[in-house]
Amino acid sequence: MGSLDGKVALITGAAGGIGQAMAQRFATEGARLVLGDLDEARVQAVAGEIGQSGADALGIAVDVTRGEQIRAMVRSSVDRFGRIDVLMNNAGVVRVSRLLDVTEEHWDFILNVNARAVFFVLQAVGRQMLDQQSGSDGLRGRIINTASIAGKPGGRPMFAPYAASKAAVISLTHSAAAALAPHVAVNAICPGAVETQMWEQIDAEWGELEGRQKGDVWRERIAPIPLGRPQRAEDVAGVAAFLAGPDAAYITGQAVTVDGGLVMS
Ligand SMILES: NC(=O)c1ccc[n+]([C@@H]2O[C@H](COP(=O)([O-])OP(=O)(O)OC[C@H]3O[C@@H](n4cnc5c(N)ncnc54)[C@H](O)[C@@H]3O)[C@@H](O)[C@H]2O)c1
Repeated sequence: MGSLDGKVALITGAAGGIGQAMAQRFATEGARLVLGDLDEARVQAVAGEIGQSGADALGIAVDVTRGEQIRAMVRSSVDRFGRIDVLMNNAGVVRVSRLLDVTEEHWDFILNVNARAVFFVLQAVGRQMLDQQSGSDGLRGRIINTASIAGKPGGRPMFAPYAASKAAVISLTHSAAAALAPHVAVNAICPGAVETQMWEQIDAEWGELEGRQKGDVWRERIAPIPLGRPQRAEDVAGVAAFLAGPDAAYITGQAVTVDGGLVMS
């Protein structure tokens, strides 16, 4: 028996990287899944693969920056499974630029997905959760937002809008935890440097700005990690499963860092 047996989990940004690892982990814990992503082909492939392993998974094409698409995703989840026990509010984007070169378009693109959409997804799912009965843990639902260590103090000169957006996710986590208590627990996860498509993009964009070889920026970033290895998406998925599961029923309003010790606070 898994820690999420029979629970319904909605995961955004589930077509790859951290979201896909969460989907796979939640499935092995017995959850029924709704997987949303902008990339329809890939999210359907992930849902199909998970379905073949015996779990119930519905893939949905969604642009989380669009209110009507968020509402349609919530409706489809409830039509299929009757409720939403866990929201993994995970879709996110990054772009690398020196601070003085950041354009208005860059700022709007990052904040639109990473902060505005995170808010409206949690609002739509929060409404649904308040409308449903409590589960066996005494809660009507759990919301987990994917923030980042970039949202913690420290300063990120090469991705200031991204860092601002992730600080916003941490702040929204606190506000939502206070607003939805005592019925819904709301927490955030702050990953460090995870080996996904997103870091490949950071490495390429940063490398181009500074005329460095492919892989140089990544190697420099992972060298000081105290636990001595790059972070895998599964490291984040395991903590997400914990925060969604019975042992975390008394945790709310926290931003949990999972980064191998890069940030110690
Ligand atoms: N990779 C890292 O080092 C790292 C570190 C800290 C936090 N994070 C955060 O973790 C989350 C997942 O990142 P990842 O590394 O798996 O990245 P990724 O690029 O592999 O996956 C992100 C997914 O989000 C989807 N997406 C983007 N915009 C969307 C939109 N408007 N609507 C729906 N889906 C959309 C993409 O299609 C993609 O499948 C993000 O929020 C990211 O900021 C990543």
